Amino acid sequence: MCVALARIIELPRLEDERGALSLIEAEAHVPFEIRRLYWLYGVPESASRGAHAHRELEQVVIALSGGLSIVLDDGAVRRTFELNRPDRGLYVPPRVWRELFAFLPGTVCLVAASEVYREADYIRDYAAFTREVTAA
Ligand code: TYD
Repeated sequence: MCVALARIIELPRLEDERGALSLIEAEAHVPFEIRRLYWLYGVPESASRGAHAHRELEQVVIALSGGLSIVLDDGAVRRTFELNRPDRGLYVPPRVWRELFAFLPGTVCLVAASEVYREADYIRDYAAFTREVTAA
């Protein structure tokens, strides 16, 4: 897979004088069946997370509050995305190295994933990742 498949997904935003509501509905807003949700919070500004690729798992990452940067790397192309809106998600395809960094204070980052947690799906070593993607 490649970074070119990554994209910002605009989620519905229903807004009136009572505030705003956004949503993700099965089979409508993300290009996979969601099998897991997790969220990152309390991340120090100096910390970075991720630093891995997945062999099969796909994700959509949403900054529910605050903001962060995500760099995606497929071994050939690197692209950085800024996430700072609760009505936008970043689709991250499989076989892409990702690092999440520059978390603003108070950031809550929701991740919708296509698989349950399975350590065997992770590639946590960058050299091993580039070997695997160039071999494919
Ligand atoms: P890790 O993958 O290092 O987090 P990140 O990529 O966001 O930096 O996960 C941190 C720990 O949490 C690690 O011990 C694995 C565990 N974990 C689960 O048990 N289930 C999960 O769904 C996730 C995402 C992580």
